[in-house]
Amino acid sequence: MKTGQRSELKSLCEQYSKFFYIGAAVDCDRMDHYKAIIDRHFNSITPENSMKFNVIHPEADEFDWQGADAIVSYALNSGKIVRGHTLLWHQQLPNWVFSSENHPICRESLLRIMEKHICEIVSRYKGKVNIWDVVNEALSDDIGFFRSTSWLDVIGEDYIKKAFCFAREANPDAKLFYNDFNGNKKDKQDRIFELIRGMKKENVPVDGVGIQAHYNIFYPELDDIKREIERYSKLGVRIHITELDISVFDFSDGRKDMIIPSYEQLQRQEEMYYRIFEIYRQYNDVIDNVTLWGVADDYTWLDNYPVSGRKDWPLLFDEQLKAKNVLNRVMDIR
Ligand code: XIL
Repeated sequence: MKTGQRSELKSLCEQYSKFFYIGAAVDCDRMDHYKAIIDRHFNSITPENSMKFNVIHPEADEFDWQGADAIVSYALNSGKIVRGHTLLWHQQLPNWVFSSENHPICRESLLRIMEKHICEIVSRYKGKVNIWDVVNEALSDDIGFFRSTSWLDVIGEDYIKKAFCFAREANPDAKLFYNDFNGNKKDKQDRIFELIRGMKKENVPVDGVGIQAHYNIFYPELDDIKREIERYSKLGVRIHITELDISVFDFSDGRKDMIIPSYEQLQRQEEMYYRIFEIYRQYNDVIDNVTLWGVADDYTWLDNYPVSGRKDWPLLFDEQLKAKNVLNRVMDIR
């Protein structure tokens, strides 16, 4: 065999098949563009935006299934699973939800909207999408326990539990996740732990915690990543890494002038990805899925976050859709 002959090499998800699923977030407008990579390297797909409230439920009596249907049928036809993302969030919400008939909405009406939203979506994909990020980012990053959102204001603290109950009712077989970021930080981790512990105690149907994992080449500490996984595993829930990417910029680095990543940045990124996947393998008894938030560096949400219009290179494939060196490091599981 010639060195590097691709057909003889394992793909990323084959390499990890005995540990966990390997996923990528993608929207249907880029699915064809990435098809070759996704077909080969990923066995789990998360719709990046197509299942979000504003896209899938733009008007009170209107659901737009086009994008979500396309992703789900592509995934199922190619033997991949789908992580449904996300039923309830404070972002990407259409205006109609909180301003029906131009007067402030009451708890009961909002609960009915939430119930309809969750039940319609979860039941449509019953048997096809069996994992849901039910509630996304509901906890505070500074003071207080809950993030202050309109869901909390109008419904009250039990809105999270209600959301999980509606989802379970709509599909008793689905695995239901609470998904959040910053859990590597002690305070936020305490809140996530308490939320899940409380829900389990009250028999609210929560099956797992999603760790978003939007990291960068300097952050976080590997020990904090381990501690977070260990902590949630004590709750007896499953863990999914739901949105992994490793920016080449420190969070406070506002530079906008780079047109290619530097050698040092790529080196650090390789090391970071390698160490992180090593940790995930170490905890594969509780981790079922590791999903990257994108496919290749030609498009990433980080091109507009945290610095708008600043190119980033956080993924395993480059801007020409070629495997970066980091892919080989991640595949090296000796
Ligand atoms: C991001 C998408 O990638 C962008 O395309 C969109 O404009 C904003 O949302 N945490 C989440 C994801 O849970 O849904 C977000 O996705 C990234 C942060």
